[in-house]
Amino acid sequence: MARVDPHSHFDDAQPRSRHWRLRLRADFARKVLAGTVELELDGEGGTLDLDAKGQTIRAVSSGGAAVPFALGPDEPVLGRRLRLELPRGARSVTVAYETAPDAAGLQWLAPEQTAGKRRPFLFSQCQAIHARGVVPCQDSAAARVTYEAEIEVPEGLTAVMSAGPAGDAASAGGGRVFKFRMPQPIPSYLLALAIGELESRELSPRSRVWAEPPVIAAAAAEFAEIESMLAAAEALFGPYDWERFDMLVLPPSFPYGGMENPRMTFLTPTLLAGDRSLVDVVAHELAHSWTGNLVTNATAEHFWLNEGFTVWAERRILKALRGEGAAALAWAIGQKALDDELARFKDKPELTRLRLHLDGVDPDDAFSSIPYEKGARFLTVLERLAGDAAWDRFVKNYMKRFRFKSITTEEFRAFVEETLPGLLAAADAGAWLDRPGLPPGAPRFVSPRLDALAALAARWGDGRIPEPAPLKALAPAELLIFLQKLPPPTAAQCAALDAALDLTARGNYEILNQWLCLAVAAGHPPALARARRLLAEVGRMKFVRPLYQALARTPEGRALAREVFAAAAPTYHALTRRAAEAALAAAP
Ligand code: BES
Ligand code: ZN
Repeated sequence: MARVDPHSHFDDAQPRSRHWRLRLRADFARKVLAGTVELELDGEGGTLDLDAKGQTIRAVSSGGAAVPFALGPDEPVLGRRLRLELPRGARSVTVAYETAPDAAGLQWLAPEQTAGKRRPFLFSQCQAIHARGVVPCQDSAAARVTYEAEIEVPEGLTAVMSAGPAGDAASAGGGRVFKFRMPQPIPSYLLALAIGELESRELSPRSRVWAEPPVIAAAAAEFAEIESMLAAAEALFGPYDWERFDMLVLPPSFPYGGMENPRMTFLTPTLLAGDRSLVDVVAHELAHSWTGNLVTNATAEHFWLNEGFTVWAERRILKALRGEGAAALAWAIGQKALDDELARFKDKPELTRLRLHLDGVDPDDAFSSIPYEKGARFLTVLERLAGDAAWDRFVKNYMKRFRFKSITTEEFRAFVEETLPGLLAAADAGAWLDRPGLPPGAPRFVSPRLDALAALAARWGDGRIPEPAPLKALAPAELLIFLQKLPPPTAAQCAALDAALDLTARGNYEILNQWLCLAVAAGHPPALARARRLLAEVGRMKFVRPLYQALARTPEGRALAREVFAAAAPTYHALTRRAAEAALAAAP
């Protein structure tokens, strides 16, 4: 028995599947993907344990002969073990199956939940451990695979995947079959599929954006500068290894800001601010092409290696493109997220370590900004101690050494010690990695702009209503920081701010959401109405959770929140529903 991942039945001592061949048909009426996966194996037969969750397993075969299989009990976090007894010498095994309509890794949307309102939509979100609901597989980041897929969809719909397109053709059933090939080995959580009425626009020779027809023009305009971002990232981290960087803008129920699916980053439509002010999320997902997709956390216990590194990398890209000042603002916004999350996890300090221990813990419950922001600060400490030149060399060597590998925190430590001896001790790495909270020596990011914003916010203390003119000149990130630093406003202050800055009508969802959280708590009527609309439509957890929390602070808001939730819950992604439920349950 050599289980290497607390969240997977993957057993290192068993044969490994190195390549998947997926043949699936999307049945929108029944909300199932049905078909087969052929797993190519590197072993000689024997027992093979897969992860499965919710599927109906129809049959398992190898070389035309039936393979005995047994489904284990449904474990709360892990799902089921699918144990196959392979014949000696088996080089591949085929599982015929069908996904569950409520598979955690998939959301099936009705036409009303899309921008076009005419056709249904399907998208996957496999990170951290939901690939097992889509494909029975060794669902651990420690086991990398290449894949190819044939996806049959109804006429008029288009399929995209985290893979290169390999043609499409009419299917016998009157629909269309889209083929894909992913030649680079990826962890299972990077498997991704979306199906909908989709259009694309070219942005550069290696990048295009996909979206529903009503959204495509806005998407193309928002992300038009992608090539300069790619170039900046390559200068910092080395050549881009995935050939293409395409993006898909999803319907608003997508539960995250972005997901770094290789060759096809998934993005929330809430990034479409109209002024390119939220493209740092794209920089983040792009940075994952190196930190996360090339060098991958071996398990969710080492998630900080993905996200901490990526936040650090994202801000290096930002600094290269827009300067030190812009990066300092991003670090300040991150500090607020970190402080909030340390407070949210005050009763679970073990989840505020970087190196986590997650036996029996659902990675979705452990998820927070802490691995992102604490992780990025730890790397900044290392960077400052090592010095710029030595650190940049280290980063490039790190990518080279571990490309297409899945690694643990311990392997990371050993590599730092080997290449920059003494650095870990100087940084007090043990405190950062293994102890809860933020070490006392954590870097603080300061700038004259930040001081000025804090001073502007302080003028609104004690219910005062100063002249709002200076606020009108603030750039989007500055306005967001101003709002974050604002003392809890009164209803009169909200009315003044809204009149001056038109906050309730903002298209930048970071600003809008921060504003709504303040203004609903103050009972500002336009904010309550806007919050109602937002929660009925948007499923991005980053916005939904705090907005329900803010509403829950007043009796009027609580009533509204319960009413909106009752109506919207069936349309929420399962993760969003859970986050909203938790926020409401915590209400007084
Ligand atoms: N990989 C994450 C999203 C994720 C993490 C999904 C864990 C499921 C489990 C993605 O790269 C991410 O971090 N997205 C952020 C954006 C970012 C700029 C911090 C988000 O969704 O807000
Ligand atoms: Zn990320």
